[in-house]
Amino acid sequence: MGLLEGHLAVVTGGGSGIGQAIAEGYAREGAAVIVGDVNAKGAAETARRIAAAGGVGHALALDVTDLQGCQATARKIEAEHGPISILVNNAGIVRRATIDSATAIDDWNDTVAVNITGLFNCVHSFQDQLKARKGRIVNIGSIQSFVHTPNSVAYTTSKGAVKNFTVGLAAELAPYGVRVNAIGPGLIFTPLNEAGIQKQPEMLERFMRHIPMGRPGTPADIVGPAIFLASDMSQYVTGVLVPSDGGYLTI
Ligand SMILES: NC(=O)c1ccc[n+]([C@@H]2O[C@H](COP(=O)([O-])OP(=O)(O)OC[C@H]3O[C@@H](n4cnc5c(N)ncnc54)[C@H](O)[C@@H]3O)[C@@H](O)[C@H]2O)c1
Repeated sequence: MGLLEGHLAVVTGGGSGIGQAIAEGYAREGAAVIVGDVNAKGAAETARRIAAAGGVGHALALDVTDLQGCQATARKIEAEHGPISILVNNAGIVRRATIDSATAIDDWNDTVAVNITGLFNCVHSFQDQLKARKGRIVNIGSIQSFVHTPNSVAYTTSKGAVKNFTVGLAAELAPYGVRVNAIGPGLIFTPLNEAGIQKQPEMLERFMRHIPMGRPGTPADIVGPAIFLASDMSQYVTGVLVPSDGGYLTI
């Protein structure tokens, strides 16, 4: 019997990278998984992979920055599948540029819209369903919930906000039996950083000096913590951010 048998999970940004791995991992543990992504093709591919592995996966187009779209999606899901019991707020973007760059204002606005307001929009839209099922929320923060890495002040700010959003929401929703936690991935090779860190030897070297375990992470490194925080294994855990970073924050 899987650790998430009987659960219905929504994973935002599940069409790629870490979200795809979490969606597949949850399905392996017995959850039915709804993959929401602004990239509908990516979401459909994840649902296909889940079905090919014998699981239950559904895909839908979802832009977490669109509050009305999130509300409509929540209503549609409840009507078709019943209330969800797990929400993974994974959708996120990173823009690396200095604050005096020509793109700084757009970078700031887009990053805040996806990485902060997107979480609020999803939680607000699904809160009644999560309360009805004493559900679990898993937010994806970052090592940048704690530290800065080069040229990413908007991203660092947004991931710091994820940590405090997790704390505030955990206290507010605990009386309803809803637990709220977060994960702080370190350097994980995914399409998110393919154009940046992975192809810049100096940047990669800088990150690697901070990783005592001696290797970059893979999306699979985030799946275990995500299952733990969504399952009854963590029944007395709420309001924490669990780093999964090969020790990045230790040095
Ligand atoms: N890769 C890393 O090194 C790393 C490290 C720390 C934290 N994270 C965080 O992990 C999460 C996933 O990142 P990833 O590396 O898998 O990136 P990714 O780019 O591979 O996947 C992100 C997914 O989010 C989707 N998305 C973007 N904007 C969206 C929106 N408005 N609405 C819905 N979906 C949207 C994208 O289409 C994409 O499928 C992000 O929150 C990211 O900040 C990643």
